[in-house]
Amino acid sequence: MNKNMILKNGMVMPRLGQGTWYMGENSTVKKEEIAALRTGIERGMTLIDTAEMYGDGASEILIGEALRHEEREKLFVVSKVYPHNAGKGKLEKSLDQSLQRLQMEYLDMYLLHWRGSIPFRETIECMEQMVQKGKIRSWGVSNLDLDEMEELTSLSGGTHCQLDQVLYHVASRGVEYSLLPWLTEHQMPLMAYCPMAQGGTLGRGIYQSPSVQTLSEKYGVSPAVILIAFVLAHPGTIAIPKASQESHVIENSKAMDLLLTEEDIALLSKDFPAPVRKEYLDIV
Ligand SMILES: NC(=O)c1ccc[n+]([C@@H]2O[C@H](COP(=O)([O-])OP(=O)(O)OC[C@H]3O[C@@H](n4cnc5c(N)ncnc54)[C@H](OP(=O)(O)O)[C@@H]3O)[C@@H](O)[C@H]2O)c1
Repeated sequence: MNKNMILKNGMVMPRLGQGTWYMGENSTVKKEEIAALRTGIERGMTLIDTAEMYGDGASEILIGEALRHEEREKLFVVSKVYPHNAGKGKLEKSLDQSLQRLQMEYLDMYLLHWRGSIPFRETIECMEQMVQKGKIRSWGVSNLDLDEMEELTSLSGGTHCQLDQVLYHVASRGVEYSLLPWLTEHQMPLMAYCPMAQGGTLGRGIYQSPSVQTLSEKYGVSPAVILIAFVLAHPGTIAIPKASQESHVIENSKAMDLLLTEEDIALLSKDFPAPVRKEYLDIV
């Protein structure tokens, strides 16, 4: 698979990164979590996804401790603003606090975490100002469905939105029906969260299903890697699997070199059919 994606604005974004939800919240495992993040970076998973929401900033603090200043330019760091902070007088403050916790001068990408009551128009204006000030290099959104993406991009400055981060895994394929094709047509990646269905817990028997087991044996990788490779099989996607355990990160990094074939996808589709009609966006 292509390891990087070129965004509409010309930025290069890695396609396989690391999620960090729930990381940094328990000091007894801090060392292991930092080791996991560092191992991921060493293996090329240089895209790091976080949010001001995660542990009320604890995830950003952990990342700040794990990353080294001298490697900043080779990393792609994404954080997210709460919807209620995504407006005038608030977004910049949230961003400044995130940057402080991350010990960074800028973010590569800042996302609206989900839609709230602040109008898109106002959020776009604030995001654009932050780009101009050099505090973020680009911005995007999360948890927006097709109708909301159409609304957003019809507004002044809305087409500067670079991507949409949504839930996507083999047992939740609704986005394939119309959102993913629309994003691809508009040169925006779909950034898949929960790509491993949260270790298989977002559905019953996903990892034990015949197709996942068959492919796991065929390629000599764990079921989690098959799930990551599934979402990355489409060229318009990015995946951010989260792993606090180093052994998991090492395993997950194998997805970078695994390109599932059409036959593999057809096999997975027997257990996890592609959508045949519009389905509402899945969220966690
Ligand atoms: N925008 C949004 O609204 C939104 C929502 C949810 C998530 N996200 C982002 O997306 C990231 C990924 O989603 P997620 O963390 O919810 O779910 P996920 O990445 O699908 O799954 C994480 C779970 O899988 C386990 N795991 C990792 N590697 C594994 C392996 N090789 N084999 C078996 N289990 C493995 C992890 O365990 P260990 O941690 O113990 O290694 C953890 O329990 C988040 O961390 C966050 O950054 C965004």
